[in-house]
Amino acid sequence: MLIYVTGAAGFIGSHLVDRLLSLGHRVIGADNLVRGTLDNLQAAFKNENFRFFDLDLTDRASVETILHPVFAAEEKVDTVWHLAANSDIAAGVADPNIDLRDTFMTTFETIALARKFGMHNLAFASTSAVYGESPERLVETLGPLLPISAYGAMKLAGEAIISAAVESFLKQAWIFRFPNVVGSRGTHGVIRDLIDKLLVNRDELEVLGDGEQKKPYLHVADLVDAMIFIWQTAKERRSLYNIGPEDDGAKVSFIAKSIVEASKTNAKLRYTGGDRGWVGDVPRFSYSVEKLAGLGWRPNGGSEAAVRRAIDELIAERGLV
Ligand SMILES: NC(=O)c1ccc[n+]([C@@H]2O[C@H](COP(=O)([O-])OP(=O)(O)OC[C@H]3O[C@@H](n4cnc5c(N)ncnc54)[C@H](O)[C@@H]3O)[C@@H](O)[C@H]2O)c1
Repeated sequence: MLIYVTGAAGFIGSHLVDRLLSLGHRVIGADNLVRGTLDNLQAAFKNENFRFFDLDLTDRASVETILHPVFAAEEKVDTVWHLAANSDIAAGVADPNIDLRDTFMTTFETIALARKFGMHNLAFASTSAVYGESPERLVETLGPLLPISAYGAMKLAGEAIISAAVESFLKQAWIFRFPNVVGSRGTHGVIRDLIDKLLVNRDELEVLGDGEQKKPYLHVADLVDAMIFIWQTAKERRSLYNIGPEDDGAKVSFIAKSIVEASKTNAKLRYTGGDRGWVGDVPRFSYSVEKLAGLGWRPNGGSEAAVRRAIDELIAERGLV
């Protein structure tokens, strides 16, 4: 099949591209490289079934001009995997224009592109952030949803516009609500942040919040497995699934201590205090993955195992040895 992946050079997008190629699909990737890197696509570039375009997805004229001849010369794209977004939640709290553009408008424009070029299936990387700070267990049927970040709000709007597109021209849409995803090529997130701080100062490690924030973590290899499984298995025209581990998560203090231990730096931990790392951060949540288990997919391990694996991968990748 021919697949179009946006955000292809990013953390999750590049792992997805590798997996789709390994399954024998042909992949067209797009990314404007604001956060993603060509380095992440090293393996993909060795595969003749992969093509990449450096594109700002919000620039409709350029996207259409560049991709029109590509799509015109090819068989029809079977599925669009839309992963491009702003992944810096705090930046979007400070300036919501960032999420309007990179989280929502990339989605709106990708749907417009799909409509124009007759692509009828769309898979979307949504997020647990759409639930906001709900005291209830986060289950797909929960509502009303009141996000606490511009990022969560724009992802929720993205889900809504995709749902509307199913009514007008899409045959099927898969909406995945990711938890915190960790692993090699991570472009952001607590593990990468703490490792990068240690690269600058090996004696003291500043940790945002009081360390008690506790969230579900999933390794990117498991996440990609789950996405592909849902894509191949779920039959509803609008499939909506939380993806995550089956536990309630790992604490930030566990992550910080594990990084110090794995890096053998002996750095002293200094917590900045407060119950959350930054404005817009949801400090704790309990995630329901029963619907996904009912479909037949379960993760390989829990949050702490995913975190440990990602720490080892990122310490090696970032050169903290
Ligand atoms: N990593 C997580 O924990 C997590 C959790 C929930 C949801 N998600 C979602 O998964 C998807 C992938 O996230 P990620 O962690 O790989 O982040 P990432 O930042 O590594 O990847 C996103 C990619 O989108 C690209 N991009 C941003 N704006 C663009 C634009 N205007 N035009 C073209 N490309 C653009 C960036 O360059 C980047 O490569 C995102 O939609 C994100 O919101 C991630």
